Amino acid sequence: MDATPLIPRAPCSPTTPLRVAVLVSGSGSNLQAMLDAFGDASSQVRVEVVVSNVPGAKALDRAAAAGVPSLVVDHKGYADRPSFERALLEALSTYSPELIVLAGFMRILSPTFIEAFARRIVNVHPALCPAFPGTHAARQALAAGARITGCTVHLVDSGVDTGPILAQAAVPILTDDDEARLQQRIQGYEHRLLPRVLRALAEGHAVTRGNRVLIEGLEPEAWGLGWRA
Ligand code: GRF
Repeated sequence: MDATPLIPRAPCSPTTPLRVAVLVSGSGSNLQAMLDAFGDASSQVRVEVVVSNVPGAKALDRAAAAGVPSLVVDHKGYADRPSFERALLEALSTYSPELIVLAGFMRILSPTFIEAFARRIVNVHPALCPAFPGTHAARQALAAGARITGCTVHLVDSGVDTGPILAQAAVPILTDDDEARLQQRIQGYEHRLLPRVLRALAEGHAVTRGNRVLIEGLEPEAWGLGWRA
């Protein structure tokens, strides 16, 4: 089957980097990992803008500290999801992003929004999809008695944490883990995996084969085996 690059114009270069918008709602530790990874002039990826639906989110401070533009589109200020998403799209359009990364963005996006950025929205989820979708994934993994969980970077479709998988890393669950410890360990893996995936996309290493997306050269090195968080 033919392989087509996920980012058609890749490889991107430091002079014309992959333009990324990051949507956040909270702490923004994944945003920080991207800002750290892509902060210098030699990067093929650039975080163009950070948009939060929550005023005062810590992620906004991280953007400011990195000198990246940020703005708030507070969902509470809109009557319904369509009007919130229209405002979001309008805010984003100023920055012409090629890719949107959901990094702890706690709103469900409608099929209309997703269609506007078809196969160009990436999410990071703290479980090995399709296991433990939705909120409290670490809690769900502990409740299930799982021995291994992980994190997934995937394309967003209209389901909850169901889109085509780009990459995953496995994270062991230790006997004395509680939710907070496990969540923190998973996030340590997310912070490594997400920038690697975005770099691979910018380099043109992500190709679609049918309904699968493969990242050449990333696996199995990035499965998290042997990583320490
Ligand atoms: C991450 O664990 C991510 O997997 C989930 O939300 C969390 C966001 O954390 N979607 P942060 O805001 O990046 O620190």
